[in-house]
Amino acid sequence: TAFVVAIDGPSGSGKSTVSRRVAAALGLAYLDTGAMYRAATWWCLERGVPLTAGPAVAAEVAALPLVMGVDPVSPSVHVGGVDVGEAIRRSEISAAVSAVATNLAVRAELGRLQRAAIAAEADAGSFSGGRGIVAEGRDITTVVAPDADVRLLLTASEDARLARRARDVHGTDDAAAVHATRDEVLRRDADDSTVVEFQVAADGVVTVDSSELDLDQTVRAVLDVIGQ
Ligand code: CDP
Repeated sequence: TAFVVAIDGPSGSGKSTVSRRVAAALGLAYLDTGAMYRAATWWCLERGVPLTAGPAVAAEVAALPLVMGVDPVSPSVHVGGVDVGEAIRRSEISAAVSAVATNLAVRAELGRLQRAAIAAEADAGSFSGGRGIVAEGRDITTVVAPDADVRLLLTASEDARLARRARDVHGTDDAAAVHATRDEVLRRDADDSTVVEFQVAADGVVTVDSSELDLDQTVRAVLDVIGQ
């Protein structure tokens, strides 16, 4: 029977990298739900829709021509046939995404797409052949897949998260790079927290703190929780 792993965590917790590695190790598909919010944001900006116009944004997202590639070794995101994998990581998108993600109609629509992607993969998935999926984001353990077989919250100290994000975005975690990342990350986490709880584990969700762990150790800790 298919296996569903749900992983949530704040920015810089390492959840994307860890989730991909865990999915690859177990032969499971991988769904990056943050990439879906980023893709929705990219699309609205592309279409010239002001992100503060809630109903207009919701209408765009209801018709979002989104295709998620769920191979953990090379995940992909296409919108209207355009590969947006790189574009959605740009700082304009990081700065704007919370405005879209705090729109409750958008959350309902993307949540629906996420449940459908998880169900399709757990059924007879194109990637894993129905073995299952690792889905990661902010509300997967609580809202999207509360009945997942394994539910995990990946956390890390603020210093560790800011240093990781600085290395991702600027290639270094020197003081200037951390400073440049700090405002965006902390503001985004604060804005996101107004609609989703991802700092504290819900009932039945296991917390893995990666502050003192490197990538391999974190992957190991998550596989231990999964029982593999
Ligand atoms: O990598 P990082 O955690 O910084 O961000 P991400 O996973 O790419 O998610 C980008 C944004 O999408 C978050 O800041 C949230 O605004 C939104 N998001 C969400 O609201 N719910 C999810 N399940 C996943 C992401």
